[in-house]
Amino acid sequence: MSGRLGASAAKASGKAEPEALGIYVHWPFCLSICPYCDFNVHVFKNVDQDSWLKAYSAEIQHLSNLTDYKRPVTSVFFGGGTPSLVRPDILEGVLNEINSAWVLSPNAEITLEANPVGLDRPLLEDLKRAGITRFSMGVQSLDDAALSFLGRTHDSADAIAAFALARDVFDYASLDMIYARPDQTVDAWKDELATALALAPNHLSAYQLTIERGTNFGKLYHAGRLSLPEEDVQIGLYDVTQSLCHDAGLMAYEVSNHARLGHESRHNIQCWQGAPYIGIGPGAHGRVDIEGHRHASIGIKHPAAWLASTSDMSVGHGLASLERLSKEEVFEERLMFGLRLVEGVSLSGISKNAEVPDGALDMAKINFLVSADLLEDRRDRLVVTRSGRLVLDRLVAELLIA
Ligand SMILES: C[S@@+](CC[C@H](N)C(=O)[O-])C[C@H]1O[C@@H](n2cnc3c(N)ncnc32)[C@H](O)[C@@H]1O
Ligand code: SF4
Repeated sequence: MSGRLGASAAKASGKAEPEALGIYVHWPFCLSICPYCDFNVHVFKNVDQDSWLKAYSAEIQHLSNLTDYKRPVTSVFFGGGTPSLVRPDILEGVLNEINSAWVLSPNAEITLEANPVGLDRPLLEDLKRAGITRFSMGVQSLDDAALSFLGRTHDSADAIAAFALARDVFDYASLDMIYARPDQTVDAWKDELATALALAPNHLSAYQLTIERGTNFGKLYHAGRLSLPEEDVQIGLYDVTQSLCHDAGLMAYEVSNHARLGHESRHNIQCWQGAPYIGIGPGAHGRVDIEGHRHASIGIKHPAAWLASTSDMSVGHGLASLERLSKEEVFEERLMFGLRLVEGVSLSGISKNAEVPDGALDMAKINFLVSADLLEDRRDRLVVTRSGRLVLDRLVAELLIA
């Protein structure tokens, strides 16, 4: 093959856009802040949850007036922060507001992110009654020394007990783990992951520890007081993650996400496939269509400022920005997210509403990446290989640079 893959050629065999609509609701509070985390999080103190329900409702109304989606909402994701700290009646209030603004699909996936601390059976049952269908718990580790290093306020026994309860109450229960921690060996991770898999999650997110600027770990790392495992150990840890999850029946459907068939996170898949999602809450990002054009929205980052803005009748919303994306930007995002999926990305699908930037997707470059065993070119579909996954960010940058 030679030349650049043109948008119109790709369009010819195009696949329909998914008729999905997601809603992301950000709750920015946690009981304490973990030293590795750079999400938009603040300590949970003196939070008036009723005012938050009013503010979320105002933002839902504002965004439903801006957008004109007739399709039902197929997923809602309460992310954070620690949304398991939100009262179930507040969550139910937000879902009612979403239902009256857009209409919730009867089998919508409704995810709640949770911390093991403070969970008990009555609370979990109330959360289920409020409408939560998918429970996603941040466990991070099942090694007590590692949990303490990660600044967690629970031990492995607490996490195991909390997850067993969640597994009992919810049909969809997922757990998050963080690996590739300082001094972690492949053998130790094997045992830890096997213990996690024995808890029978039907979804598991295994993230390699990322050092984020501005966090406590970032400061330690840049001061030379914290180091990550060498590259060959990182590869060994990644490989063992893939094989143990696979053997436990949890298939990798994305770089860090594994699920039993039918238990993949619909919300994440929708976003990675380029479906629109509405972002509600401080710092929340959204991708919405207004008058046929994809826009990026970002909420005001600081919780108090977001709350004040949404509650101020003369403003009535908490958006910091709402910008129309160029077709090239839409294309880049779809390529970047689509390549994270194990099924890869359909070029005709992403080219449908986007323009391939000049110099991107140069066939000589694609052929080179294929010959280097980083990419597979399956006619209309680009799929990242195992080796490519280990250098995914660099690979995507290479594909996009003219
Ligand atoms: C927004 S957090 C919500 C989880 C919940 N608040 C908890 O931790 O108990 C989502 C997940 O992101 C992952 N995460 C956050 N910061 C990370 C980092 N620096 N490196 C790797 N994973 C990280 C953690 O696994 C975490 O469970
Ligand atoms: S990992 Fe979870 S609990 Fe820890 S600071 Fe981040 S959002 Fe909060």
